Amino acid sequence: MRCSFLRLRRKQYVLSLVLLLTLCVLLFMQNYSVGPLLPSALPDDIQTFRTYNIDCSAIYDMYPVEVGKSLIIRRKQNVEDTDERLINLTINCSLFIKSRGYDKVCLTEEEKDFPLAYSLVVHKSAVMVERLIRAVYSPNNIYCIHYDQKSSAQFIAAMDGLAQCLPNVFIASKRETVYYASITRLKADLNCLSDLLESKVQWKYVINLCGQDFPLRTNIELVSELKKLNGKNMLETTRPSEQKKGRFTFHYELKDVNSAFKKTLQKTEQLKTLPPHGIEMFVGSAYFVLSRDFIVHVDSSVVVKDFLAWSEDTYSPDEHFWATLVRLPGVPGEVPRSQPDITDLKSKTKLVKWHYLEEKLYPPCTGQHVRSVCIYGAAEMRWLLNYGHWFANKFDPKVDPIIIQCLEEKLKERQKLFQSAASTTCRKG
Ligand SMILES: *[C@@H]1O[C@H](CO)[C@@H](O)[C@H](O)[C@H]1NC(C)=O
Ligand SMILES: *[C@@H]1O[C@H](CO)[C@@H](O)[C@H](O)[C@H]1NC(C)=O
Repeated sequence: MRCSFLRLRRKQYVLSLVLLLTLCVLLFMQNYSVGPLLPSALPDDIQTFRTYNIDCSAIYDMYPVEVGKSLIIRRKQNVEDTDERLINLTINCSLFIKSRGYDKVCLTEEEKDFPLAYSLVVHKSAVMVERLIRAVYSPNNIYCIHYDQKSSAQFIAAMDGLAQCLPNVFIASKRETVYYASITRLKADLNCLSDLLESKVQWKYVINLCGQDFPLRTNIELVSELKKLNGKNMLETTRPSEQKKGRFTFHYELKDVNSAFKKTLQKTEQLKTLPPHGIEMFVGSAYFVLSRDFIVHVDSSVVVKDFLAWSEDTYSPDEHFWATLVRLPGVPGEVPRSQPDITDLKSKTKLVKWHYLEEKLYPPCTGQHVRSVCIYGAAEMRWLLNYGHWFANKFDPKVDPIIIQCLEEKLKERQKLFQSAASTTCRKG
């Protein structure tokens, strides 16, 4: 007994010593290597955005010291690059393209014949929007940016700068003032989609993203996954719970709260009519991967037009519009109504970590929660990349800048690997 007690004591002593040593190492690094931001080692030494001195392979491998280092960075430096930073950078387009490596993106034969379209509905954090576009950039893709009419002048100028510098990035011709849970969010995407249909680029699939998304796959990998879909659409579409049904059985109204900028959607007691054309309702998320044929159909269908009009006064129509349309009999890439629910974990479009499912379906959030959704931290890098989804939500450089930097690095690394393996044609920026 005494012997094992002593052993226990010694074990504890050794453990404390190790912990103490680790702490010393961490404190040392805090003072000497994390302190000032390193100028980025990007091409030609042009300083673009903040980067941190961290070993992303070690983060991926979950080395405790490196993860500890990321925690210190997170605590110390929660400043974001300002919108002005992007305005400044895009003043000189050739410099911008060079410094952000847009001129170094190559195309494999496989990508060449399979252009993608993006609808980006954004309202703040210009630098993150640019980093998102850069991460999914390919010169033969097309990108539509819808910014909110309420966005700041700086944000709008930065988006205009981006669109001016990159020939395949444009601003939606019609812009909405987007209010939470109202039809305006859906209309923002619809505005982009109709512009995208008019573009010369014969894109095969369209993906919509928001400012807090980030990709988990390179363009080459996405193209190869999308080819496998064979014209099918990929999105969440499930039968509505009784609670969710309330979102479209009652009439909702946008009401002013203090100012015109603070309109909120409020439920009324007024019952709505049943959906037109006997449409059966499904629910899902606002985010999708849809085929060109499907969008062409949506654009010209009278049934869809009536359904959109009927959805005007529902709660968060973006979360039932696509989920319902994709189940309509006969639409291109149809998901038959008889087919089981496609949940957010089955659909690969977007990996979202919900607070109440942590430790049941997935490991806990290592960042922070906002409205029960996880903003990812660095220690989730491996989980994110290995889960199988194509995009994830949410990321915020103010919560954890390391996870974003490391995903960027990892994707660039993979892109290089694929390109060196395939025959590529490089288009100069
Ligand atoms: C933008 O450029 C101006 C003038 O060139 C400079 O004074 C300002 O500090 C820059 N702002 C940022 C955020 O880089
Ligand atoms: C833009 O940047 C390039 C460097 O890539 C430089 O040679 C050129 O003079 C700059 N143009 C202007 C107008 O400042």
